[in-house]
Amino acid sequence: MQHGFLGYDSSFMLDFVVCALVLVVPILVYSIWLVKFRRNFATHRLLQLLLGGILLVAVIAFEVDMRLHGGWEKIVNKDPESPRLTTEQLAQVSQILSIHLIFAISTPVLWATTLFLATRKFPKPIQPGEHSSQHKLLGWLSAIDLTFTSITGLVFYYFAFMR
Ligand code: HEM
Repeated sequence: MQHGFLGYDSSFMLDFVVCALVLVVPILVYSIWLVKFRRNFATHRLLQLLLGGILLVAVIAFEVDMRLHGGWEKIVNKDPESPRLTTEQLAQVSQILSIHLIFAISTPVLWATTLFLATRKFPKPIQPGEHSSQHKLLGWLSAIDLTFTSITGLVFYYFAFMR
């Protein structure tokens, strides 16, 4: 669990979270394409619930990892005797992380709200209804938020472990 599997000096769970971040965007694009152009509501619902599950597991994995290691700096600089990043580089990565956190914290809140309202307010079997316009707004906001979470998370990973 101390080392990642992507070939960088990361941690197993951070690498897992990175894979999840890469995976969720194409699934999201496909799911929105399905509902917008194919009007396939049932598969859209299923994929969005699946994405919610992946997000939940990724958030839990990230939190557990941070607690096990005592913070991201300890993962980046595992050996205090010979730190991989300088103090300036750490400060830069910390700034990237602050931007990432804005998206990473708001996404699960927005996602959970969108899922909760959609599962309760759309008619069953699933089809457009009175909730459509509110759902489209929430859905697009959640989708954009998740995409930025993914992009900023990958930028963080790049500057923290890959350069
Ligand atoms: C957080 C999860 C979800 C996101 C991000 C999301 C995203 C979206 C987006 C962006 C659209 C609009 C596409 C367009 O512009 O035409 C949409 C449409 C739709 N979604 Fe979701 N969705 C989510 C969950 C769900 C769930 C769980 C259901 C069903 C229970 C659902 C049912 C629908 C339906 C029926 C439409 C079509 C609305 C209409 O065209 O009138 N969505 N969704």
